[in-house]
Amino acid sequence: MNSLAIIGAGNLGLAIAKGASNKGIFAPADIILTRRNLGKIESWKVSGYNLTNNNCEAVEHARIIVISVQPKQVAGLLAEIADRLDVNRHILVSVVTGVTTDEIHAGLGNKPVPVVRAMPNTAVAIAESMTCMCARHTTDEQLAEVKRLFDSLGKTLVVEERLMKAATVLAASGVAFFMRYLRAATQGGIQLGFDAEDAQAIAVQTAKGAATLLQLNGSHPEMEIDKVTTPEGCTIAGLNEMEHQGLSSALIKGILTSFEKINNIRK
Ligand SMILES: NC(=O)c1ccc[n+]([C@@H]2O[C@H](COP(=O)([O-])OP(=O)(O)OC[C@H]3O[C@@H](n4cnc5c(N)ncnc54)[C@H](OP(=O)(O)O)[C@@H]3O)[C@@H](O)[C@H]2O)c1
Repeated sequence: MNSLAIIGAGNLGLAIAKGASNKGIFAPADIILTRRNLGKIESWKVSGYNLTNNNCEAVEHARIIVISVQPKQVAGLLAEIADRLDVNRHILVSVVTGVTTDEIHAGLGNKPVPVVRAMPNTAVAIAESMTCMCARHTTDEQLAEVKRLFDSLGKTLVVEERLMKAATVLAASGVAFFMRYLRAATQGGIQLGFDAEDAQAIAVQTAKGAATLLQLNGSHPEMEIDKVTTPEGCTIAGLNEMEHQGLSSALIKGILTSFEKINNIRK
């Protein structure tokens, strides 16, 4: 029996399929990919994946069902597959932005199917996502199984559902926030004499190194800052000027503004 069905094999759905098979969690032969226009993923058949445009058939042949369609397509899809979902066999995973587990269950006629809601970011494409997830009606084993799937695509954190919007801002919008820092650092580098390509390469590797230091050392950012700020030196002068200009304040305010907006988005 195929074990994983990806319903909505677009950008994210295909990245999940690739991560799961690359890390040996499911062989391509155990993964079913669905979308309406199968022509766009024909090449995946050659790699051994199963393709169909029949969502109900995919659900019947799989145990873990990942829903990866656009938010406005969810209601129709849930209504389509509700009858085929078996509460004792299936685990439903939704990566659809902004759709709660309550809404998913309502869309299934309140059938108590085990549901995991996961929020990856675009770095899923290179298996470097930060994915936050929450669960409903799942056993510890079922949640652990879904966590293992997303662990193959980067790092994961299980959170309470009330934090999923905050997680979306910090991890999904967060990619854009860090990109803007990198663009600014690149522009600074160009003004100091580097060409654009070199300036960006320096900024990107420096950001990656700084993040990896925190990941590997488990240290606080200020501890790492202390290591590069000599008294009366150039780093502390630059850092203090950035703070006078409101760097930390601007970042925190931006994160809070995104959060305010996500709470007021009309569906
Ligand atoms: N991309 C990311 O990094 C990311 C990160 C976090 C969350 N998300 C969320 O993940 C979801 C998918 O995002 P995406 O970027 O992968 O979007 P996408 O590329 O548009 O993929 C959605 C796919 O769903 C298919 N589809 C639509 N209706 C369908 C149906 N009834 N049955 C089967 N397949 C159907 C579409 O193909 P056809 O038109 O051929 O059916 C399309 O390939 C969205 O809700 C998004 O908010 C994405």
